[in-house]
Amino acid sequence: MTIRGKLIVQTVALQVVSLLLLSYGSILVERQLGERQALRAGGLLKEAVAHAATDALIQRDQVQLLSYLNFLKLQYPSLSYAHVVWRKSGKTFLQDLGEPDPGARVLEDRVLVPDPSEADRSVEITFGVDQDVLRAPQRESEHRMIRVLMLVGAGTALIGLLLAALLAASLTQTLGALGVMAAQISEGKLGVRLEWDSEDEIGALVRVFNAMSERLAELDLAKKNFVSSVTHELRSPLGAVESFIPLIREKLASGDAAAASSARDYLDRIQANVQRLNRFITDLLDVAKIEQGKMECVLRPVDFGPIVAEVAQFFEPKARQQGLKIENMIQGAAPVVADPERVRQVLVNLVANAIKFTPASGRIWISGEQVRESGRRWLYVTVGDSGRGMDGADLARLFKPFSQGRNAADGVVGPKGTGLGLYIVKSIIDQHGGRVDAASAPGQGTRITFTLPAAE
Ligand SMILES: Nc1ncnc2c1ncn2[C@@H]1O[C@H](COP(=O)(O)OP(=O)(O)OP(=O)(O)O)[C@@H](O)[C@H]1O
Ligand SMILES: [Mg+2]
Repeated sequence: MTIRGKLIVQTVALQVVSLLLLSYGSILVERQLGERQALRAGGLLKEAVAHAATDALIQRDQVQLLSYLNFLKLQYPSLSYAHVVWRKSGKTFLQDLGEPDPGARVLEDRVLVPDPSEADRSVEITFGVDQDVLRAPQRESEHRMIRVLMLVGAGTALIGLLLAALLAASLTQTLGALGVMAAQISEGKLGVRLEWDSEDEIGALVRVFNAMSERLAELDLAKKNFVSSVTHELRSPLGAVESFIPLIREKLASGDAAAASSARDYLDRIQANVQRLNRFITDLLDVAKIEQGKMECVLRPVDFGPIVAEVAQFFEPKARQQGLKIENMIQGAAPVVADPERVRQVLVNLVANAIKFTPASGRIWISGEQVRESGRRWLYVTVGDSGRGMDGADLARLFKPFSQGRNAADGVVGPKGTGLGLYIVKSIIDQHGGRVDAASAPGQGTRITFTLPAAE
């Protein structure tokens, strides 16, 4: 049975059961009330008969008793018959009023009234009360109540049916759409979304599905980027090495001094390519460690000042070669609690990016300031450049693995990179308990700021 069918059947069944229980309860209460009324009416009738007998005895009027009983019969239609026995000094005189209906449920009662002034004189009235007539008003009201309950029941069942159908439709519609979405994802159409905005469980399920689809698309993109990076970053340095080796052989075979100098130049290029390969493989190993949660930083108090000075000095020749100026504004001691090798790696990645993405005659700076935050002191380090900057879309995926800006390779001198640098930077800073933030706009330069816990 479909969810829609189940929901409708269950809702209607629930309504019918609750209505039956309610009806049963109401009828029970109504019956008790009716029974009480019938008893009261029976009691009143008996009182009236006794009253009439006393009056007739006092007035010594037998005819008056009969007419009074007749009047009572009109007033109380349940009074089916009455047999009157007058007694005086051993003599009896009988009077009859009406006959019991054959088949009627008649309950007989008796009233014996002595004359208050003459001890040997009395009247005894035996009368029948027709139980069906007595309880007729109660039965009537019971039937009326059943009719009303049935009408209300039919109305609410109809409304319930409609509501259940609407609810089922809204539920199954989204579930169906989610099913289609899941089928699309399984067919490889990653990143599809379902537009549905509600604050209930279905809304939460749709949001989880959308996030899952987005994440799968990201992973798929990362996988594609990974394959293309690995292919490119392994093949191009290896190709260069392979093509330089026969050239070196050739130069060495010729034996003259100029050829030997060229061979040395080729060896330098081979070395640069091997370094590039080495860097790439180190980055890949770091990523593997991060993904397995095994990237561990050994934190200890260390002065960050000399690390910055060393990195700035290391990049100075390359920056000068590209017409760039590196300014180190962190002069003096900057004590932090950090893994010196790893924070050096962070700086190298950030400065390498700044150099790569800043055109000639640009400016690169490294600044730092201590800030007290969340009960402790932090060193805020910024690596800024006056380079090309990035737009919001590039910024949004800046710290994801294998993600590069859309024009990452444009105008870049040297290797184009693989999009791992900032992912590794973020992971290292996370390990230090710090944060990394980026501020950038196209043509406005970029500032990457990270925080390290300051040593007390
Ligand atoms: N200073 C910057 N100015 C402009 N764009 C930047 C800057 N730093 C990073 N980016 C953008 O962010 C992307 C990711 O940077 P990241 O350092 O992770 O990778 P990469 O430099 O391309 O490659 P890798 O660092 O692995 O050699 C870059 O490709 C570039 O598009
Ligand atoms: Mg980089």
